[in-house]
Amino acid sequence: MTTTPTRTRTPARGSTGTAYTRVEGREKVTGAARYAGEIPFADLAHGWLVLSTVAHGRIRSLDTDPVLAMPGVLAVLHHENAPRLNTDYVGMLGKPDPTCAVFQNDRVPHLGWPVALVVAETPEQAREAAESLVVHYEQEPHDIDFSPARTDTYPADGHMPAVTEKGDLEAELAASAVVVDAEYTTPEEHHSMMEPHAATALWDGGRLEVVDSNQGATWVVGELANLFSLDPASVRVRSEHVGGGFGSKGVRAHQVAAVMAATELQRPVRVVMTRRQMFSLTGYRSPTAQRVRLGADADGRLRALEHRSLNLTSQVHEFVESSTAPSRVMYDADAHHTAHRLVRLNVPTPTFMRAPGEAPGSFALESALDELAEKCGLDPIELRLRNEPERGPVSGLPFASRNLAACFREGARRFGWADRDPRPGVRREGRWLLGTGTAAASFSAGAGPSTATITAEADGTYTVRIAAADIGTGARTALTLIAADALEAPPDRIRMRIGDSDFGPAMIAGGSTGTRSWAWAVRAAAAELRERLALGADIPPEGMTVRADTTEALGTLAGKERHSYGAQFAEVAVDVTTGEVRVRRMLGIFAAGTIVNPLTARSQLVGGMIWGISMALHEEAVRDRASGGVYGPDLAGYHVATHADVPLVEADWVDDHDPEDPVGIKGIGEVGIVGAAAAIANAVWHATGVRHRDLPIRPDRVL
Ligand code: MOS
Repeated sequence: MTTTPTRTRTPARGSTGTAYTRVEGREKVTGAARYAGEIPFADLAHGWLVLSTVAHGRIRSLDTDPVLAMPGVLAVLHHENAPRLNTDYVGMLGKPDPTCAVFQNDRVPHLGWPVALVVAETPEQAREAAESLVVHYEQEPHDIDFSPARTDTYPADGHMPAVTEKGDLEAELAASAVVVDAEYTTPEEHHSMMEPHAATALWDGGRLEVVDSNQGATWVVGELANLFSLDPASVRVRSEHVGGGFGSKGVRAHQVAAVMAATELQRPVRVVMTRRQMFSLTGYRSPTAQRVRLGADADGRLRALEHRSLNLTSQVHEFVESSTAPSRVMYDADAHHTAHRLVRLNVPTPTFMRAPGEAPGSFALESALDELAEKCGLDPIELRLRNEPERGPVSGLPFASRNLAACFREGARRFGWADRDPRPGVRREGRWLLGTGTAAASFSAGAGPSTATITAEADGTYTVRIAAADIGTGARTALTLIAADALEAPPDRIRMRIGDSDFGPAMIAGGSTGTRSWAWAVRAAAAELRERLALGADIPPEGMTVRADTTEALGTLAGKERHSYGAQFAEVAVDVTTGEVRVRRMLGIFAAGTIVNPLTARSQLVGGMIWGISMALHEEAVRDRASGGVYGPDLAGYHVATHADVPLVEADWVDDHDPEDPVGIKGIGEVGIVGAAAAIANAVWHATGVRHRDLPIRPDRVL
């Protein structure tokens, strides 16, 4: 299946749903688009972060004098001289991660903790000086041992309750004709987006300006205003182009250090992270150890479902990888128990990453479903269809729309599932054993309050302003199409301005909620503008501007369970003499509400599925017990799927609509990775007859 990228200049029937190339595409491919680390500023100074070389202990002293005498060095900021920060607040996404509150005390909770910022006239001078800074530590023993056998784990809520329980689990398991009881592990994984974190901070006429690469200017303004005890109105954050985020681009040490240095020196200061620094400063996905127990009648109907997940967090902050999230929405059972536990170690704080919770959780749950299908002698799709719930298994709420069955039916038809021989290990092609697998996907579909402003210009064009973030998703283009339809104008008459906190508060590019949240606000502003124009108002030379805020309108989403869904299919070839696993093809069919721009939506879903290949076969950060750090913290040591690993990957969707949402969008940001690793693992079982319950499925594990 191919889609021809065509730019429809004056569509006959609306722009939403037509393939449209990125409005900033030309700027990006010609290099005209500037990213945070390369925007020029007069009188710019450069900061370089110094990270701890021990995994636990205290800073005894820093030998700053020799460094201050080095060429071009302007300042060394550290815990004894840096401005004090306020960390006692609840921000847009909860309490701040103290990892970003740098230089506040002498404690070192993990390897790679920021201990100083060296500021100099050039980046080279800053780096040279930072690498010369001698820091004396009082080292203490560190503990990085993540294991389900630990006795110091505890239940933790995070973004959802730690525990959900209904029914008598042991009784239902005992009454089940078929039981699956399996343990799954997923490793520490890192975001590794293309563009490293970078920020420039400066004071301009009494306002703090930060030019940044982030997933939400409103979010960063809020955190910086809180940390530095500033009026949010006196902080402006701009983030025009973002080279990927995957959950890691909120507030991090570099913005905070840049603001500190800009304040001390009263000149613009830029701090750019290196790839290696990102491995300890920008969050990551916790490893997980999960146990799934399923009990079913002989016909596959679930009587018992238990999903427990252990994750780690740091000594300074709690973050829960909510791996049981898919179990709480996908399948019901008379006894249904889920639980998240944490253990605190001398490691950096994990964070949101590419379908946080759902990605590792769906690997365990959807692998266990496949094992149950095998034991029941049922087709894995049929097993899932027999267990489609009427209501949210934990919430008890009706679904706004689900359409998972439609995804499986369409996917099965296109993938050729009907011809599948269910027996494992019986298809051979030369040195390869072949297999196919499937899994379900889901990701929550929410929306957050946003403000949009639209100006009808005197020349017949429109300028839309919203503090949205396009982190590579195509959001800027999708919003252009949304605005075009709402204004009944062709897309080339829309000027879409995003990534500036001065445009008013808006939702982040996160939780797959961005485009939906922003589109809602853009439509509201457009409706009001059209109403005014319809009343015959004249457009003055400076244009006519309206502003809309969706805070109240979002109430219509209450009372129903909302998710995007999908059916993932994979075909693999496994060489059992070398352990090599090759994905040959993948197909994902999704039910994700209205698809605004099929061109960029397909890219986003395919991108998620490729992350699934990466998760299934490649990605794994391994920590060294002696140092407490990640081995090979760069893109040579941390292997992500590359072109040579990625075969034909197709994504498409079924009709789906969220009835309570005026745009009908549900969100496609993250659902593409969910279930993808399970589909591949299930295909490896079908090829070889061996279950792989530990990711990644490395050659040494296949052998
Ligand atoms: Mo996404 S992990 O919510 O950026």
